[in-house]
Amino acid sequence: MATAVFPGSFDPVTIGHMDLIKRALAIFDKLVIGVLANSAKNPFFTEEERVYMLKELTKDMPGTEVIQFNGLLVDFVKETKADAVIRGIRNSIDFEYELPLAQANYKLDYKADTIFLATLPEHSYISSSAVRELVRYKGDIKGFVPDVVYQFIVQKFDYMI
Ligand code: PNS
Repeated sequence: MATAVFPGSFDPVTIGHMDLIKRALAIFDKLVIGVLANSAKNPFFTEEERVYMLKELTKDMPGTEVIQFNGLLVDFVKETKADAVIRGIRNSIDFEYELPLAQANYKLDYKADTIFLATLPEHSYISSSAVRELVRYKGDIKGFVPDVVYQFIVQKFDYMI
């Protein structure tokens, strides 16, 4: 049974992330979604909230598991006995950023080998940081985040446009 880890900050989860989860599940039997706990000093969502939303979003997706992690990705890959790491690539900037990380992770542990999935072109401008900026300035985030996340943002940030 082949298992992959899909790591990220998921602050918050976007529809781009959800598409990658769906596509990774078509390749792997099991997908462990690893939520990096202390990814930023002032996260939009606490780690518990991010894990909660991901669990809600994947509850009808057999083969998924959502686990929070701290520290190095290679250690998390070892703990979960995964065979590969999944990361999405939207553009050349992502590639420049992801390539040395993937190479370093492989050097640290060959089991932490990264498979890049090309995002759908219609998702190439979607990012968690764009969502955070839009929420701050009351921009329209429909089309950026799944409904579960939209509702959470409405409640937590009194967001209404
Ligand atoms: O969603 P993000 O913020 O782009 O995800 C980045 C993430 C979590 C994949 C990356 O920061 C990570 O793997 N962090 C864990 C620490 C680590 O292993 N760093 C690499 C050292 S070579």
